[in-house]
Formats: sequence, structure tokens, C-alpha cells
Amino acid sequence: MQKNENSRAVLLTGGAGYIGSHIAVELAAAGKQTVIVDNLRNASEDALRGIAEITGSEPVFYRVDARDKDAMREIVKCHGIADVIHLAGLKSVAESTKEPLEYYNVNLGTTLTLLEVLLESGEGRIIFSSSATVYGIPDHVPVTEEAIAGRCFNPYGRTKYFNEQIINDVVAASEGKLSAVLLRYFNPIGAHPSGLIGEVPTGVPNNLMPYITQVAAGKREKLYIYGNDYETRDGTGVRDYIHVVDLARGHVKALEWLESHGKGKVEIFNLGTGQGRSVLEIVETFQRVNNIKIPYEFAPRRPGDIAEYYADPSKAERELGWRAELSLEDMCRDAWNAEKTLQSRAKKG
Ligand code: UFG
Repeated sequence: MQKNENSRAVLLTGGAGYIGSHIAVELAAAGKQTVIVDNLRNASEDALRGIAEITGSEPVFYRVDARDKDAMREIVKCHGIADVIHLAGLKSVAESTKEPLEYYNVNLGTTLTLLEVLLESGEGRIIFSSSATVYGIPDHVPVTEEAIAGRCFNPYGRTKYFNEQIINDVVAASEGKLSAVLLRYFNPIGAHPSGLIGEVPTGVPNNLMPYITQVAAGKREKLYIYGNDYETRDGTGVRDYIHVVDLARGHVKALEWLESHGKGKVEIFNLGTGQGRSVLEIVETFQRVNNIKIPYEFAPRRPGDIAEYYADPSKAERELGWRAELSLEDMCRDAWNAEKTLQSRAKKG
């Protein structure tokens, strides 16, 4: 490992994944050096190549499990790391109900290791990848950061909430050495407009947009819309879909905020657009902007789904100077472009 004395890079755990790769690109655009740690359990080196093509430089990358304390300590030391954007973890709601121990082990283990290593090094600013899932069924929409958190329905959601609590406790006891921002994501979709990075699920996609793009690509016959009898404007579920590039930019803003205002604090921000969209609206927009028909069929509600929620993102706008700028049309166009680009690259090998 080469020691880098002069620059203080940002450590990005889970940086080869869907959201992480987009954050790597936005960090580069903001002129920040990035060190990616990823064990490639649910990601691939293709994302690293995509990042290199977009940014014009190879990201520094370690294929390391973020629970490996010796390796993490070494990386933090060598690169003089104080800033960390922490995404490394497992993310399937369905899988988490079948393998809860694995989810607790990985999702809490990565955070505990990171906090230990940063405390040892004497300083750390952490941006944590949390989720709106911590709100459970919110009492009100739009959901503000003051809404009650912790009423999660599944082990995945609970790992997000427990991680938030752990970070709170450790920062509070750190005597100013640590600080953190907890970013509660709503529903990230879309991809970098180049199509060189995007969402590449393994197996059957759990989430709406990757399922739609696979139907569009002919990999799946039709979309099953889970429930058309919700108390929403057209009966289908309503979510706050946010372009992953906007979401990634939110991390850069949060890091800048933490560096200048956050010492010793833990602050929570919602990252969403503030607009709820139904499943049918997503399908209609996707069809319109891409000129492709998406066959669909209504199916029973998916267990654990809720009817409607969307963010109040005004705190992030006020404090971070960040707001989502890209439209639903951009999200649908960029998601389809990435599906096509990544697919044709995979074929070429
Ligand atoms: N949906 C379908 N058919 C599908 C997939 C999804 O109709 O094949 C519907 C769902 O019922 C829901 C909407 O599309 O109404 C969005 O579903 P997603 O699975 O895309 O997203 P969720 O809102 O269920 O979950 C997402 C993330 C979670 C995170 C949660 C937090 O996947 O990781 O948002 O808000 F916890």
C-alpha cells in the first residue's frame, strides 16, 4: 500500500455499488480524491471501469470487506482518512427476512469496524447511508426528519435504524473526535446519463425501476404491479423517486456541511424530491420518454409495502444548499439508457 502524505481522500465504502459508484463520480466532479473499499459481493469491477471512463481517472480501489479491521486501519492510516461516506452493507428487504443474522452481522459489523478505526485514528466525519424505511408507516406525509423513527418492518430496515443509533451513541461519547450526517434516502432510481454506471441487480430485481428496465429489454415478460387498491390517487403505491445523480450530489453537500458546521454533531437529512409518484405514473412516464411499451398486470399487494410516502426535503435545502434538480423524465430516460449501454458492453465482454 502506497502512503499518500499530501492529500486527504474521502473513503467510500460500498463504492462499487449502484449508489456508491455515482457518489464516486460526484466526488471527483467536486475535486475530491476518493478511496473505494468494496468486497464486490453485490457489485463488480465494471463499475470501477465506468467511474474511470466518466471521470478520466482510475479510482483508488481496495477489494476489502469493510469489517476487516486490520485492512481498514491500514487504509485509513495510509490515506490519512478523516472523511468517510459509508454505504457498505446488504440491501435486500426480502433477503433480510430470510437471513437476518447475516444482515445484522454485515450491516452492523461494517459500521462498528469503521467507528473503531476512526476513533483509533483520532478523528472522523461520517456520512451514513440510511433509508426512509426507518420511518415505517409515517403519521404524516410529507415526512420530516422529526417523524418518529424505528418502527421498521424488517431486519434490513432495523439495521439502518440500529446503525443510526450506534453512530449517535459513539459520536456522543467521542468528545468531539467524531461527527456524522445520517442521510435518509427515499427511492433512488435512474443512472448517470453516460450509461456507463447504473443499477445491475443480481437475479430477479426487487425494486420497481430495474424490473421495468428488464421488461423493456425483453429479459422479463411483464411487470407485476403490487396492489391497485391502495388509498392513493390511482390505487397503486406512491413513493418519492429521486435521481441517483441528485442523491449522490447530496452526499458531497453533506460532507462539505460536516466539514464546516458539523463538529461533534449528528444531523439527519432526508434526501428526496418532495413529490410522490404512483407506480402507474412511473410506468406511463417510462413508456412516454423511451417510446417503449411496458406490459403489466396487477398482482396482490406485496407484504410489508405501505400505500404512500414522500419526503419533506426542506431541511436539506435550507442547511445543505441541496435540492433534487433532475426530473422523473430524466430518471426514466437515464435508467433505460444505462440498461442498454451496460447490456451491450456485457455482451461484448
Ligand atoms: N413495485 C411493483 N412491482 C415491482 C416492484 C415494486 O409494483 O416489481 C411497487 C411497490 O409495490 C412499491 C413501489 O413499486 O409501491 C416501489 O417499490 P420498490 O421495491 O422499488 O421500493 P420500496 O419503496 O419498496 O423500497 C425502497 C428500497 C428499500 C428502502 C425503501 C425505503 O428498496 O431499500 O425504499 O423507502 F428501504
